[in-house]
Amino acid sequence: MSHTPRKILVTSALPYANGSIHLGHMLEHIQTDIWVRFQKMRGEQCIYVCADDAHGTAIMLKAEELGLPPEDYIAQVKAEHERDFAGFLIRYDHYHSTHSDENRVLSELVYTRNRDAGYIIEKEITQLYDPVKGMFLADRFVRGTCPKCGAADQFGDNCEVCGATYTPAELKDPYSTISGAAPVEKQNIQLFFNLPRFDAMLKTWLDSDALQDSVANKLREWVDAGLQPWDISREAPYFGFEIPGWPGKYFYVWMDAPIGYMASFKHYCDQHGLDFDAFWREGSDTELHHFIGKDIVNFHGLFWPAMLEGAGFRKPTALHVHGFVTVNGAKMSKSRGTFIKASTYLQHLDPEYLRYYFAAKLGKGVEDFDLNLEDFVQRVNADLVGKVVNIASRTGNFVHKFGGRLSATLDNEALVREVQAAAPRIAAFYEQLEYGKAMREVMALADKANQYIQEQAPWSLAKDDSQAQRVLEICSAAVNIFRLLALYLKPVLPALAEKAEAFLQVAPLTWQDADQLLGEHAIARFNAMLNRIDSKQIDAMLGASKEDTAAAQPAAKPEKKAKTAQKADDDDAPISIDDFLKVKLRVARILKAEHVEGADKLLQLTLDIGEGETRNVFAGIKARYSPEQLEGRLTVMVANLAPRKMKFGLSEGMVLAAGPGGSDIFLLSPDDGAEPGMEVR
Ligand code: MSP
Ligand code: ZN
Repeated sequence: MSHTPRKILVTSALPYANGSIHLGHMLEHIQTDIWVRFQKMRGEQCIYVCADDAHGTAIMLKAEELGLPPEDYIAQVKAEHERDFAGFLIRYDHYHSTHSDENRVLSELVYTRNRDAGYIIEKEITQLYDPVKGMFLADRFVRGTCPKCGAADQFGDNCEVCGATYTPAELKDPYSTISGAAPVEKQNIQLFFNLPRFDAMLKTWLDSDALQDSVANKLREWVDAGLQPWDISREAPYFGFEIPGWPGKYFYVWMDAPIGYMASFKHYCDQHGLDFDAFWREGSDTELHHFIGKDIVNFHGLFWPAMLEGAGFRKPTALHVHGFVTVNGAKMSKSRGTFIKASTYLQHLDPEYLRYYFAAKLGKGVEDFDLNLEDFVQRVNADLVGKVVNIASRTGNFVHKFGGRLSATLDNEALVREVQAAAPRIAAFYEQLEYGKAMREVMALADKANQYIQEQAPWSLAKDDSQAQRVLEICSAAVNIFRLLALYLKPVLPALAEKAEAFLQVAPLTWQDADQLLGEHAIARFNAMLNRIDSKQIDAMLGASKEDTAAAQPAAKPEKKAKTAQKADDDDAPISIDDFLKVKLRVARILKAEHVEGADKLLQLTLDIGEGETRNVFAGIKARYSPEQLEGRLTVMVANLAPRKMKFGLSEGMVLAAGPGGSDIFLLSPDDGAEPGMEVR
C-alpha cells in the first residue's frame, strides 16, 4: 500500500519569553505533539515548529529589571523553555525565536506587501505618555483611581472592584506603573492594519471548516459587531523590529508573533533543503495547523488570516483551540501550590503520566481541562501500570521459561485479531483530536486481554512442563496484544513504546505495523517499564510549587514574583556599575512619621525629597523607632523605585537602613548640612 504522504506544517502557540513554562502550556504542547507523532507514525510528512515569543514591552522591562540586554535575557529563557519541553518529550522539528533574522525579513515582507496593497493606514491618535520614562504607555502600565466607584489603584482599562471599563485617560490620579509619574496625553501617528477591508473574506473563512463551531461562533460575534482597524505600531523604546520607513516605530509584538511560525519553518527549510514557498504560497496543497488556547483566537482567527491574505500567502487549514488547565477544579493558584511549573513537575513525576492523563481526558472541545490530582494518580496507576504494562509483566517471563521465543501459533487468535481490527478506529480518533476516545478504546481492549490472561492463568499451567506449548501460545497471544496496544499508545507514550520495542526486540513501531503480528520471534526478558505514582510525589510537587512561589513573593505585585524567582539563583552575582547607577538615591527629610493602623512592623513616613516634592513611604522600622525619634531627621531614599501597592496604601519608594531587621535596624542618616533632594552617590 503506497500512499502519497500529506504535507503538514504544525505549530503550537509561541510562549512568551518572560515566564516559565507551566502545566497550562504543557496541555497545548502535549496535545500538539501527540498529533504530530501520530502523523509521523503514519508516514505523513509532518513538520512541527515552535519558537519563543520574544518581543514587547513586558519582556523589555523584565530584562531591564534584571539588568540584562534583552537579547541575553531571551536567550536564557529560550534555553530554559527548550529544556522543559524536551523534558516532556515534545519533539519539535525546530524551535526558534521571534527575535531572529528570518522573522525580521518575513515581518517586513508581510508588512510591505500589505502596505503596497493599501491595507496599512496612518492615523493620529492620543495616547498616555510617561514623561519620566519617556515612553508611551499601554493600558496595563497605567493605574489609578476608578472613575466610577473610586476604588484606588485600579488597572488602566477596567476596575477589579466594580467591574467598570474605561480608558486610561478617564482614571483619576493616574500614574505610570513604570516610573510612578503622572502620565500626560500626547499626540502621535500610529500605523493600522485595515482589518475591515477583509470583512467578506473573514466571513467566508469563518464558515469554512477550519474552526470548531464554538470558536467560529465567538469570532462571528466580533465580526458582526464591526471590525476595527488594528494598531500594529509601537513607539520606541520597544523591543522588537523597527517598521520599514518609520524610524522609532516598531511592529507590535502580536504583529510579528504569528509570522514567527513562518520564520521558524523558514529556518528549518534552509537547513533541510525544503521548499518554503510550497507550504506558504496562496493555493498551496499542503496543510497548516495551529494549536492554540482559547484566549488568543481573535489573533489567529481574524488578524492572522487577514494579514496572510493581504500579503498573498495561504491561510491556515485549521485552528485547534483548547481550553485552560485548572487544577482540582480551580484556576491554577500560586498560594495553593497548584501553579505548577513544568520544571517542578519533572523533578517529581514522570512526564508520561501527564501525557497520558491529558490524552485520556482530551476531546476536540474548548472546555477547560481539570487536572484532578487524585484522579490523575488513580487513572495513571490503574490504566498504564494496572492494565497495559500488566499484560507484558504477567506473560513475558513465561515465554522465557520455555525458550524465549514466541510461538507462531496463537491461542485465542480471535482476540488478537479484534485488537488488531481497532487500528483504523483509533487512528480516526487521533486524527480528529479525540484522544480521550482513543484511550478508552485502548483501555477497553487492555481489559479484555487481562481478563483473558486471568482466565487462562498461565502461571498455573507453567508449573507443568508438559503444558509448555500451550503456555507459549497463550503468552504469545498476550505479548502480541501488548505490542499492538504499545503501538496505539506510542503517540502519547513514546518512552514506554521504546521500552516495549526493546522488550519485543522490534524496530521502532509505525502505524503500518499494526497490519502484522509477531510470529516465531525471540523477545527480551521483561523489565519494569513504569512505576506506580505514589501520592507522596504529588504532595512533594505541590509543596515545591508553594516554595517556588513563597521564595519569589516578597513584593505585593504579581508581575514581580517571577522575576525574584529567576534571580533567586544568582543573588550574590556581582552587578555592573550601570546597574548600580540605575538606582537613584536622594537625601530626604522625614516630615511626618505615623503609626499605621493594623500594621505591627510599619511606620508611614512622609518624606520631603526637595523641590517641593513629597513621597509617601511605608518602612518596616517600627520595632526600633518611635515616630517622634524620626520626625525632622534626614535619611536616604531610593527615589526611582516603582510605586508599590500595599495593604495600607501606596508606597512610593524605600528608605535605606542597615541591620537584620526587627529592633536591630538602623536608619541611614546623612550628616547635617545635607539637604533634601541631594543626589546620593
Ligand atoms: N505569545 C503569545 C502567543 C503568540 S502565538 C503567535 C501567548 N503566549 S503565552 O505564553 O501567554 O501562551 C501560550 C499558549 O499557552 C497560548 O495558546 C495559551 O492559550 C496557552 N496557555 C497559557 N496558559 C494556559 C493554561 N492555564 N491552560 C491552557 N493553556 C494555556 O499567548
Ligand atoms: Zn470601580
